[in-house]
Amino acid sequence: MDTNGKLFRKFIEREDRLNQQYTAELAKKQHNKGKLTARERIDLLFDKDTFEEIDAFVTTASTTSSFGTIKESYGDGVIVGHGKVSGRLIFAYAQDFIVMGGSLGVVHAQKISKIQQMALKMGAPIIGLIDSGGARIQEGIASLAGYASIFNNNINSSGVIPQISVIMGPAAGGAVYSPALTDFVFMTNKTSYMFVTGPSVVKEVLNEDVTNDELGGAEVHAKKSGVAHMIYEDEEQTILGVIKLLTYFPSNNVENPPVMVEPCGMDEVNEKLRDIVPDDPNKPYDVKEVIHQIVDPDSFHETSQYFAQNLVVGFARLDGSTIGIIANQPKVLAGTLDINSSVKGARFIRFCDSFNIPLLTLEDVPGFLPGIDQEHMGIIRNGAKMLYAYTEATVPKITVIMRKSYGGAYIVMNSKNIGGDFNFAWPTAEIAVMGPDGAVAVLYRRELAASEDPDALKKDLVKTYRDEIANPYIADEKGYIDEVIDPAITRKKLIIAFEALQNKHVSAPAKKHGNIPL
Ligand code: HXC
Repeated sequence: MDTNGKLFRKFIEREDRLNQQYTAELAKKQHNKGKLTARERIDLLFDKDTFEEIDAFVTTASTTSSFGTIKESYGDGVIVGHGKVSGRLIFAYAQDFIVMGGSLGVVHAQKISKIQQMALKMGAPIIGLIDSGGARIQEGIASLAGYASIFNNNINSSGVIPQISVIMGPAAGGAVYSPALTDFVFMTNKTSYMFVTGPSVVKEVLNEDVTNDELGGAEVHAKKSGVAHMIYEDEEQTILGVIKLLTYFPSNNVENPPVMVEPCGMDEVNEKLRDIVPDDPNKPYDVKEVIHQIVDPDSFHETSQYFAQNLVVGFARLDGSTIGIIANQPKVLAGTLDINSSVKGARFIRFCDSFNIPLLTLEDVPGFLPGIDQEHMGIIRNGAKMLYAYTEATVPKITVIMRKSYGGAYIVMNSKNIGGDFNFAWPTAEIAVMGPDGAVAVLYRRELAASEDPDALKKDLVKTYRDEIANPYIADEKGYIDEVIDPAITRKKLIIAFEALQNKHVSAPAKKHGNIPL
């Protein structure tokens, strides 16, 4: 090719114009807000020199309407393409706040839709790096239609390829619904926010003063609403978090998650596991200590860490293979199941089931959280989500009952009769219809009322109940538990059990789809 020729010069000129769009001054504007530019984010996400941009020259023509001007710009405010993350194919789009505030017009939306459809066709995960003023006001209804196509693609891809949204600036109005439709939402503290209506509307309608961060910042969504699954202090940490999470996932729903090249093997005996759960059933402990003693070293990656902390969920590896863990947390609300934890658990279980990630349940649950608030806000409807998700899941499912396992919560937490493949219990397990205090109060109300020393009688009855009813041996003898095991050999038992379940196959009855209680 003649590199001095006219045709080649035109090619070079275009490249120059594209580069000129990203001036140091504009980049500085982003940096001054504590944010990176879209290109810097892409560079951080992808393995060095692997990102292949497409549609860099797609352009919206400069137009002036009765309501403002659209400046012509190459790329129309979004970078789209594919590359390798930890050596695996990933598709991504990064909205570019430098260009018209990353606002979404027709061309911008078409580029995102195109890359979403390519990711789906290729069976590879897609990451959206979101930093946008929302629907481009000058393009009106056409930008809303653009959002609709993106939502449509999100829904088509749901359960087929992992979808991750990373909020790195504003996400306002209906624009929040693409992230909400994806599997995991990441946010960066202090520089990102999400809301359906912003502070100005809140002021206008409710006369309440609130800042962006108070209304929809990362902490609010991580702790209160549960919208954000992961939050980090800066953008670099956020992107490293995305890279780490991806290592646990398969590329799509017909692949299995990658296995770490060097499995850790199974320790024969880990005596520490005999001591974490206190003998006193009313004493709390941190279930994460149990998790760390069972899974491969440093492999536990918690998600939704700050939301509904009475249930711990996250990914880990067991002898190199990804598992999803759902564990009651006795040190928060005594590990009871409430509305938020049921919704959190159900969503996590459904993600794992969609992407062939086996489930491990670590159980210590006194029951559903009682109370007027919970009942009136729908613990029945929401608790049913967890029950539905566990029962519907066809991936290998194993439960270890560590301590309490009472009533409806016993059933929900992957009991044998809703499809637990292997159900183990530690000798400390208490499995019964209800806890000893409740059972004694119901069955011995009259005797206690007539007794001269009701406290002593109650103590006696509680002891008898514990010894004879609330233990793992009745369940073991009836086959509701497959085996009572020494806690010290839990890791070994689980590795062997998950291996035995590797080729599990379940055929569900034909239907369009079930009707999960939403
Ligand atoms: C067109 C926009 C824009 C938009 C920002 N810009 N948002 N252009 N449409 N939606 C432009 C600004 O005019 C400005 O252009 C540049 O982007 C940077 O914006 P600034 O306001 O200077 O930046 P900053 O001070 O950081 O404020 C950012 C912001 C603010 C908070 C996002 O721009 C803002 O409030 N934008 C509107 C947000 C919004 O209400 N969007 C619509 C939501 S409804 P110049 O030329 O000056 O550099 C929605 C519906 C979706 O999205 C429905 C889907 C179903």
